[in-house]
Amino acid sequence: MEAKEFTKKYYANRKNTNCIKWDNEQALNKLPMWIADADFKSPEKVIEMLKKKLNEGSYGYEFLPKDYLDTMTKWNKDHSHVEYKKEWIRFSKGAIDGLCQIIYSLTKEKDAILICEPVYNPFKAVIKASKRKAVVSNLIYKDNAFKMNFNDVENKIVKNKVKMMILCSPHNPIGRVWNKDELEQLFKIAHKHKVLVVSDEVHSELIMPGHEFIPSLSFERYQNEIITINAESKSFSLALFSHCHVIIPNEKLRNIFDAYQDAHHITMPNAFNGLSSYYGYKYGKDWLDGFKKTIYENYLYMKKHLSKYCDMPELEGTYLVYANFSKSIKDKTAFDFIYNKANIFPNAGETYGKGYEKWVRFNLATSLNNVKKACKLIEEAFNS
Ligand SMILES: Cc1ncc(COP(=O)(O)O)c(C=O)c1O
Repeated sequence: MEAKEFTKKYYANRKNTNCIKWDNEQALNKLPMWIADADFKSPEKVIEMLKKKLNEGSYGYEFLPKDYLDTMTKWNKDHSHVEYKKEWIRFSKGAIDGLCQIIYSLTKEKDAILICEPVYNPFKAVIKASKRKAVVSNLIYKDNAFKMNFNDVENKIVKNKVKMMILCSPHNPIGRVWNKDELEQLFKIAHKHKVLVVSDEVHSELIMPGHEFIPSLSFERYQNEIITINAESKSFSLALFSHCHVIIPNEKLRNIFDAYQDAHHITMPNAFNGLSSYYGYKYGKDWLDGFKKTIYENYLYMKKHLSKYCDMPELEGTYLVYANFSKSIKDKTAFDFIYNKANIFPNAGETYGKGYEKWVRFNLATSLNNVKKACKLIEEAFNS
C-alpha cells in the first residue's frame, strides 16, 4: 500500500481521546511530534478481531491462543530470518517492564550496566532506580552519522567490571540499524568480558529501504549470552496493550528469570493484550508495508525541507529522527526554539545524552500533512 492511501485509510485524529501524545498539557496548542507513538489506527483486521473478542462479553482469565507461539516464531522467521525456540519465550507488560525484570533477576545492586548514549532515556532511569550503576559509552558522531566507540566500550567494561549491557537495536533516537560487523564486534567484546547483552529490539520491524535488521539472537555463537526484548507495540501501533516478549535461550538464566516471575506472580501474560500482537502477526503485513513507506516519505520530505537549518543522520530504522540544529540555533536549546518559537512539541535532544542540547527528536509516525506543517512552522520561526 502506498503512503498516500495508507494515510487516508488509517490516519487517526487522536485529540481528546486521552492520548498522551496529543492530549498532554505540554502538547496543547502545539504540533506534537514527541513520544514514540503513531497517529495511525492499527490494521483493520486487527481491530475487527479485537472487537469480536470484546463482544464475547465475558472478561475472565484466559490463555493465549494455542498457536500464539507458533505464530510469533513464524513471523520472526519470515520477517527477521531468526529462529526463536518456543521454550525461550517469556512475557512482560511492555519492554521496560521486561527490562526491569531482567535487571532485578539477573544482576545485583551496584552492578555496572553499560549503555551507549544518546539512547532511549528510560534505560538509564531503570538502572538508577534499581540501584545499579549506569556506565555510559558515548556514540561517536562524525560526518552526520553515529558509530559505536568499541575501544571505549571495552575500556569501560574492564574499568567498571560491567556485568550487563543494554543494546538498542535499532537504536532510538539516532535511527541506526546496527549492521552485522558492528554487532559481531560488540558481541565479541561482551563475550570476552562475560557481559550479558540485553538487546531491545522493539523497533526491529521499522526498517527503511536499503537496510537490513540483524537480530542479536541470529548470532548462534553468542546466543547463551544474549537476551532479546521484542514486541509489536511499535510495528502495529499497539502500545496501549503493553505486551512484550523476553527471549532467553540460556536455560540457566531463564530459570533465574522464571523464579523471579514466579516470586512476583507474573507468570501469565495478559491474554487479551497478547491478542493484539497475535492478530498483527496474522493480518498486519500489508499495513506494516504502508506504514514504513509513510515514515520514509515523511523523512525524505523533512530532510529536504529542513536541510538549511539542521542535519539529520540517515534514517535507517525506527520512525524517530534525531535532528541536529547546531548550525542554526546558537543562543538557546533546540527544544526551546522548536517548542516556543515554532510551536512544535518534539523530544529535547539532551533527554538522551549529555551534549545534545542543540538536537531534538522528531516522531515521523504521522501524516505527511503534519510533517509539511512542521517544516512550515520551523521555516517561519527562523524567518520571524
Ligand atoms: C527502544 C525502546 N524500548 C522500549 C520502549 C518502551 O516500550 P514499552 O512501552 O513497551 O515499555 C520504547 C518506546 O519508545 C523504545 O523506543
